[in-house]
Amino acid sequence: MSSAGARISAGIVEKAPAKINLALHVTGRREDGYHLLDSIVTFAAAGDRLTFAAASEDSLSLSGRFGPVLAADPKGTGDNLVTKARDLLREALRDHGLKTPPVAIALEKNLPIASGIGGGSADAAATLRGLIRLWNADLPASELAAIALRLGADVPMCLAAQPLRAGGIGEAITPLPAMPSFVMVLANPLKAVSTPEVFRRLERRDNPPISSPPPVADREAWIAWLSSLRNDLEAPARALVPEIGTLCDMLAESGADLVRMSGSGATCFGLYGDYAAAGAAVRHLSQQEPHWYFEATRTVAGDSP
Ligand code: C5P
Repeated sequence: MSSAGARISAGIVEKAPAKINLALHVTGRREDGYHLLDSIVTFAAAGDRLTFAAASEDSLSLSGRFGPVLAADPKGTGDNLVTKARDLLREALRDHGLKTPPVAIALEKNLPIASGIGGGSADAAATLRGLIRLWNADLPASELAAIALRLGADVPMCLAAQPLRAGGIGEAITPLPAMPSFVMVLANPLKAVSTPEVFRRLERRDNPPISSPPPVADREAWIAWLSSLRNDLEAPARALVPEIGTLCDMLAESGADLVRMSGSGATCFGLYGDYAAAGAAVRHLSQQEPHWYFEATRTVAGDSP
């Protein structure tokens, strides 16, 4: 990790929106140990932000509320998904005879790390999008999807960054054009959760798939439908990090219409009627737990371009 890239004056900017699993059912397990999922996913305005600029050598600099946390995490730096995405994409483009000159990448890390909202996966997807723009490159969609999946099961959906249903281990994506935009509060007790550990602790791996989503973008219909679904990873994650239970109770008491954990946790979300209600909830919750992460945001709508 170099600080040389910290002074990037201009460049290409890509947002890395937080990924929200509105529901997640674990429906099976593959022979290689990966779990089969059925998940309803959307993306928030809240997220990380990456900048890419031509430079004399490759570098990655970190800023933002959780930049120092990532810098201090050996997994975050040694195994960083941003540099992995850069290297895999470069390899593929070079095979096509394309030029991939050095790049200074600046990552503004606004999302808590290892938190179930795809921070690392969203950063990897944004790196693929940003470098394709910077290098003015073109790659067949199937090849890009394969690179995304090599980076992680959630990276293909983060590349899509629109409301979708994900099957397989997360890579089989169907857009959901009828999903409304939701106002939500993202909440995290700042306890990292190990995804493999949560999957290991599952008691059932043969849960039924999710029923058909509402065909229209009606918020009430969607909330009623989502309420009939679950996140199967929530029980094992709560057992590992009891603060998740506390957090869900706090969100419910603050007036949310639906409260659930995202991904393998520990981030939970509450859906609210409007921004005023979500903002009031954030102020109240921050008073209760001043060191936890709370953010009011809005998700993209299914018909967004
Ligand atoms: O693919 P990714 O690196 O995000 O996955 C992290 C870990 O989570 C995997 O090594 C695996 O243990 C678990 N996982 C799983 N089934 C999935 C996705 C992740 O078992 N569909």
